Parts: sequence; C-alpha cells; structure tokens
Amino acid sequence: MGALSSWFAERIPVRPGDLRELTNEPVPNHLKRWWFCLGGTPAYLFVVQIVTGILLAFYYQASPQTAWDSVRFITEDASYGWFLRGLHKWAATLMIASVVLHQMRVYFTGAYRKPRELNWIVGMGLLVLSLLTGFTGYSLVYEQLSYWGATVGANIADNVPVLGALAKQLLLAGEVYNEHTLSRFFMLHAAVLPSAMVALLAVHITLIRLQGVTEFVDAREPERDRGTFNFFPEHFATELTIGLVLMVLLAALSTILPATMGPRADPLVTPEVIKPEWFFYVAFRWLKLFSGTAAVLSMGFIVFVMVAWPFIDGWIRRRRAGSEFSVYLGIVAVLALLALTLWEAAVEH
Ligand code: HEM
Repeated sequence: MGALSSWFAERIPVRPGDLRELTNEPVPNHLKRWWFCLGGTPAYLFVVQIVTGILLAFYYQASPQTAWDSVRFITEDASYGWFLRGLHKWAATLMIASVVLHQMRVYFTGAYRKPRELNWIVGMGLLVLSLLTGFTGYSLVYEQLSYWGATVGANIADNVPVLGALAKQLLLAGEVYNEHTLSRFFMLHAAVLPSAMVALLAVHITLIRLQGVTEFVDAREPERDRGTFNFFPEHFATELTIGLVLMVLLAALSTILPATMGPRADPLVTPEVIKPEWFFYVAFRWLKLFSGTAAVLSMGFIVFVMVAWPFIDGWIRRRRAGSEFSVYLGIVAVLALLALTLWEAAVEH
C-alpha cells in the first residue's frame, strides 16, 4: 500500500493535506435543512440526464423519416429502453422544478446580494439553458405535439424585433421546419447546450467555493445551531442521501408513469390543441394574453429585470435601507407564475 501511494505521489504531486483542505469547505449549519441545499438536486439530475441521454443516443436517429420510429423502437423493443426514456423525461421535469425552487430559495433569502450578484447572473444563464434543453429535447420525438410545438416556438422567436427572423432561421436551419431541423435540434440538445451548461456550472460552483455559501445569522436560533460543519463527510452524506431518494423517486415515476408516444408528426395536419411542456405553460399563457410582439417584448423585459435584479435591489436598498420590496415582489411573481401555469394546464385551448 505504501509503495502504491508513493508511486502515485511521485506522479501526482498533491499532498493529502492540500486535498483535505480543498474538500473540507466549512458549510454553514443551515445547509442541514434540505431547502437550503436545493442546488445539489439539479446538479445530480444533470448527471442522470447525461448518462441516460448518452444511452438513448445509441438508438435515436435524428431525421424526419427515422426519429419517431427510433423512439418507438427504444420504447417498445430495446432492452429497458422504456425505463431509460422514463428516467430521462422525469429527471428533466424534476431538474427544471428544482432549479426554479433553488432560485426561489436564493431569492427569498437575499443570497444574490453583494458579493454574489455575478453568480445570480450565471444562475440565470443556467435557468435559460435548462429551459432550452427541455424545449429542444421535447422536439426530438417528432410526434404531432412536439413538431407543432417547435413550429410555434420558432414563430414566437420570429416576433422578436430586429433579431427575430435570424433567430428563427438559426433554430429551424431555414425559413420553415425542414430536413435539417431535427439534426440541428439534436446537436443543440445533446452537445451545444449541455456543454454550455457544464461551462456555466463550473463557474457557478467555483464562485460558490470562492465566496462560500451565504451565512444567515438568526438571533432566535440556539447557539449550537449556528456555526459551520465540514463539507466532507457530513454535507457529502446529506447530498448522497438526497441523491439516493431521487434515484428511488425517478425509478418509481418512470415505472408508474412511463414516457408515452403520441402520433407521428404530420406537417399537413395542425392538431386542434397545441401544448408545450408544462414549464412553458406560463410563457404560452402570457402569449395568449398579449399576443405577438407585445408579449415577446414584455417577456424580454421581465427576463432583463430578473437578470439585473441584484443591482436593481441594491439601488432600492441604498435609497430605503431595510426595504422589504423584494419579498413582496417575489410573492407576487410566484403567485403569477403559479396562476398562469395552472390556468394554461386547466384549459383545452
Ligand atoms: C443547473 C442549475 C443550477 C445548479 C446545479 C446550481 C447549483 C448550486 C449549488 C450546489 C449551490 C450551493 C448552495 C445550495 O445548494 O443551494 C448554489 C448556490 C447558488 N446559486 Fe445555484 N444552481 C443552479 C441554478 C441557479 C439559478 C437559476 C440561480 C439564480 C438565478 C442560482 C443562483 C445561486 C446563488 C446566488 C447561489 C449562492 C447562494 C448562497 O450563497 O446561499 N443558481 N447553486
């Protein structure tokens, strides 16, 4: 054993003490509560997506002639294909839900404030990338709903002034959905967007590591509940437990509610009801309420305010110290998000 470790030590000159220091980041005690460490959940689910996505890609064929049949083959013929599809679909659903919950936790605890403004912006990038990955993935099945969903999505992009037409053309690889659209979606879904996510995640985690997680001092808490504990093994064990619970949950959901298939896409027949995935319900309802350029511009403005929020909030708090405005605004935003999503879920059209 000694000979083996000195063999490695000669080739990898890292001292065990340095390694211990690197992994033993002191973690504030409030991270013992799961809602404070919700950031680990999308990270774990992202790994599940990569592994199951690679396995699905062994069989998936991205062209209008082959896509639907290859997904049918995975679902009905390939060994455990139905289970892998279920895991991939449910992990995507839970990932987006947990990113949103993590963002809410960060928002309502004010953890985006100085010096973490940049990490909030990186987080916004992760949110947008997660949604785009969901959108492109939904389109790959080439069933009626996903085909028409992609067409509607591209037409929405077309409403963006100045850059809209170019965005639509870049997305569809032409003026309309064509032979090359699916392979473009596939490259975006399986290579471009996940690589961009890995890069942003590296920045996100590096900044968390450099700045440490925000410490909240609550005077009402007993003294013993304050302070810190070690990342390894204590926090690691918490994350491992969350990972195991998620694995059981994913396996149960994929078995009880497996991923299904709708009819093959028919570009000549527009379905009576076009619905995106649930995480776009809010945007879809917004589009129906305001329609066209007004809806797209107002959504762009909301995203801009979200990105710039740490600076807007800082400006407000410099003028009115201790202002609770961010909390009231957050409550209104969450209620609006829930109301628009439920509204869209409840109606047929
Ligand atoms: C794939 C998506 C994401 C992953 C994997 C991720 C991961 C993490 C992790 C592991 C932490 C450490 C604390 C915790 O577990 O809560 C964290 C903290 C943080 N995240 Fe994220 N995050 C993601 C998306 C976002 C989004 C969408 C935002 C906001 C727009 C955001 C903003 C922040 C900020 C500001 C912190 C520091 C919080 C503090 O100091 O208390 N993250 N993130």
